[in-house]
Amino acid sequence: MNTTVDRILEVDRLAKRYSNGTLAIEDITLDVKRGEFVAIVGPSGAGKTTLLKTICALLTPSAGQVTLDGKVISSPPPEMVLVFQDYARSLFPWLTVTGNVSFPLRKKHLPADEKKKLIDEAIRAVGLDKFPAHYPWQLSGGMQQRVAIARAVAFRPEIMLLDEPFASVDALTRADLEDLTLRLRQEFGITMLLVTHDIDEAVYLSDRVFVLSPPPSHVVAEVAIPLARPRNQEATRSDARFLELRNSIHRMIGRRRDDPVVPVVPMAAEPAFLIRGESAI
Ligand SMILES: Nc1ncnc2c1ncn2[C@@H]1O[C@H](COP(=O)(O)OP(=O)(O)OP(=O)(O)O)[C@@H](O)[C@H]1O
Ligand SMILES: [Mg+2]
Repeated sequence: MNTTVDRILEVDRLAKRYSNGTLAIEDITLDVKRGEFVAIVGPSGAGKTTLLKTICALLTPSAGQVTLDGKVISSPPPEMVLVFQDYARSLFPWLTVTGNVSFPLRKKHLPADEKKKLIDEAIRAVGLDKFPAHYPWQLSGGMQQRVAIARAVAFRPEIMLLDEPFASVDALTRADLEDLTLRLRQEFGITMLLVTHDIDEAVYLSDRVFVLSPPPSHVVAEVAIPLARPRNQEATRSDARFLELRNSIHRMIGRRRDDPVVPVVPMAAEPAFLIRGESAI
């Protein structure tokens, strides 16, 4: 397979400095393959939200570029949707579930029956088919985040960017939403790029994880996650390799590119899953 076509998204030496002088991201290079689930983890304030907003052209890069399907992105592309952490701010309180899910579709100028099919399918896919006429304030937090996800799915994006999408819900709901995201990816073939500070979540969901340094951020490691799919909250998370991967990433968080490697246990052979960066083991 042609590797450039295989890569749906390429982020090349991206930097973003805000107008007040803050350099949030310094030099980020990463790629996402078609159909892949990629996570970006980094400490709080590492520039994760800035990175996602710059990738989808809500912010203009200060240096570097982003290409989608080989084309440089200069305005928000219709093939991309962004799901935010804060569903309370991203949903319209005066619109029902159906109204919220259909809102972005107005840009697509579709025939009414086709539009209805997309909306119904998306609402069913997130398990809210009994609540189409409810308003956001009549739903739990987890249900509201499902509405935000349904709205993104109805748009049929090629790639979904998710910024800490499960950070505002309780642990059980979080696990449900993680599995829902995996099912949606399977059902609709959507490529996923997730930003999270939850290392376990990143390992559980992803095919690859990029680890960011503290700000101004760059990539300190790229880690392959060769855990079997379909994943299962209990079985996957108790797999010895899961623990090895999450511990290894945990040790990389907070490091910078130039930091010397300080072995905390006698240095073993380099872990096979480390694609880029240095092991902190
Ligand atoms: N609009 C803005 N103007 C100026 N500086 C900003 C702006 N937005 C973010 N920053 C700064 O950029 C840096 C990165 O912020 P960002 O929100 O991207 O980090 P983050 O990794 O998403 O953080 P968190 O983990 O808390 O969500 C921070 O120092 C922040 O103060
Ligand atoms: Mg953020």
